[in-house]
Amino acid sequence: METIIKQHLAEVEKTAALNEHDLEQFRIKYLGKNGILNQLFEEFRALPSDQKRVAGQMLNQLKIAANEKYTSLKSEFEAKSTSATDNSDLSLNVSSANYGARHPMSLVRNEILQIFSHIGFTVEEGPEIEDDWHIFSALNFQADHPARDMQDTFFIEQQPDIALRTHTSSVQVRLMQNQKPPLRAIMPGRVYRNEAISARAHCFFHQVEGLYIYKKVSFADLKQTLLYFAKEMFSVDTRIRLRPSYFPFTEPSAEMDISCSICGGKGCNMCKKTGWVEILGCGMVDPNVLENCSIDSNEYSGFAFGMGIERITNLKYAVKDLRLFSENDIRFLKQFQNVI
Ligand code: DAH
Repeated sequence: METIIKQHLAEVEKTAALNEHDLEQFRIKYLGKNGILNQLFEEFRALPSDQKRVAGQMLNQLKIAANEKYTSLKSEFEAKSTSATDNSDLSLNVSSANYGARHPMSLVRNEILQIFSHIGFTVEEGPEIEDDWHIFSALNFQADHPARDMQDTFFIEQQPDIALRTHTSSVQVRLMQNQKPPLRAIMPGRVYRNEAISARAHCFFHQVEGLYIYKKVSFADLKQTLLYFAKEMFSVDTRIRLRPSYFPFTEPSAEMDISCSICGGKGCNMCKKTGWVEILGCGMVDPNVLENCSIDSNEYSGFAFGMGIERITNLKYAVKDLRLFSENDIRFLKQFQNVI
């Protein structure tokens, strides 16, 4: 029996299967139910006890060798079949992955930044948690101005001087404090107001602020800059109109309408049949604001403007419900996959 086991051991060691069929034959031959190992174990049981020790050891050796050979050949074949060297058809279409897409808010913000960067505006950012001075006082809001009311502003309970900024105009103040004119910057960011959430209002939204401070900056410069923006953002035949308005930090102040981007000015539901839609607030920086930021208002003047990114997105892509922007419903977001 020992000679037979030795022969099998030698055979197992030199076995090299060429394919999976050979390997299966090897398994059946040695490890199968009626295979050599089981047969030998059967014979082993009938051996006289003085021969059992040596034969038993050899038999175990054969069993281990056959099992090891089988698992090592098997894993070799598995590795081969998952590598590209097998006969896979590499020309087949891949199953389509679920790609992500830029959020419409990011798309529109980037477009606004790009339009202004073409005329020399840099991009600046400021903190969302801000102090009262940067949000209100420096911007010429009087102490009892209604915007400071708890209705509109989220204050921090333990520190009534700190709030979530209600507009990006606070970044203007930081910029004017930290840099000297000429200043020409665009400032995007998230803002917060204590509003009930509905299709038309949200407790947070996004704005872009613009600021240009230099010598002899005029209202005509403001108007021309905004006309350029409206044509780039919507279409070359977009018209603008400025209506007198009031903001504490600009004098004079205005609100700007564009000819309705949906009906081209003929009148539709979007523009409530007027042909015009409001898109931003603007004006000449109030001399008080310049002085609050240590800029000499006799030497310098400037203009500022602020717009809501949701509002622009709304007009460009006809999104009627503001809540869609923060729900992250994949069916909504997917629609912006091919928008550059
Ligand atoms: N901060 C204003 C708001 O949140 C928007 C605004 C109006 C910004 C006029 C300006 C501006 O810079 O000049 O409603």
